[in-house]
Amino acid sequence: MTLAILSALPEEQHGLAHALTHRQEVRRAGRHFVKGRLQGLDVVLALSGIGKVAAATTTTTLIEHFGVETLVFTGVAGGIGTGVQVGDVVVAQHFVQHDMDVRPLFPRWQVPGYPHPTFHCHPTLTERLNQAALDCTRTAAQWNEPLLQGRSPVVHAGLIASGDQFIVSASLSQAMHGDFQAAGLHALAVEMEGAAIAQVCADYGIAFAAVRTISDRADDAAHVDFPAFVSAVASRYALHIVAQFLSSERV
Ligand code: ADE
Repeated sequence: MTLAILSALPEEQHGLAHALTHRQEVRRAGRHFVKGRLQGLDVVLALSGIGKVAAATTTTTLIEHFGVETLVFTGVAGGIGTGVQVGDVVVAQHFVQHDMDVRPLFPRWQVPGYPHPTFHCHPTLTERLNQAALDCTRTAAQWNEPLLQGRSPVVHAGLIASGDQFIVSASLSQAMHGDFQAAGLHALAVEMEGAAIAQVCADYGIAFAAVRTISDRADDAAHVDFPAFVSAVASRYALHIVAQFLSSERV
């Protein structure tokens, strides 16, 4: 069974790419995939691309061309939930598309043709990612990384909102959080791909789980905090979490 490990950005992937053995590079759909072995398991590494359409094309190619049956996403996100801070990790239990709006024909955020506004992640894979994230944050507390500002990072689990927009406004992210809250949904973080991958995986009946490290607070400083976090630590988190996740399959 082949596992795909998706990242959004090359900086988030390079630690994993370095650890891969039996490498075989494949170009498909204008994308660059790397097949190989990680900790003895067959994997395909892929960059999702930025935004929902790019992520959907990548996911479809992984399933149709590479025969992938399990997808795991690691990347970064902007924290919008209360207490979701830079350096924390959010394990997705479900995803919503914050820019999908077909009201009044369908409830807000619901993609027509699907039963709910949210797409669920695979429970067993998600629990394994959660354990891996807990292990990673215990280690990260000892990295002396200035961007963590002496805080011990926390693992959160819940809803992630995806849309084709980089959120760089405290008032917008608060409004978004408030709108979800009013509908009984507690959104922890925003990013630009997860819900699209979840939708394609739901279409094919493929198991999907995702983890996002918080690079910024989706506020007025997000455009500064995001690149600084990505270049300094994102790959360390991704590598640690994936290594722990893979080793947990054998226990
Ligand atoms: N990914 C990381 N930070 C983000 C933000 N502020 N908005 C959208 N996607 C993000």
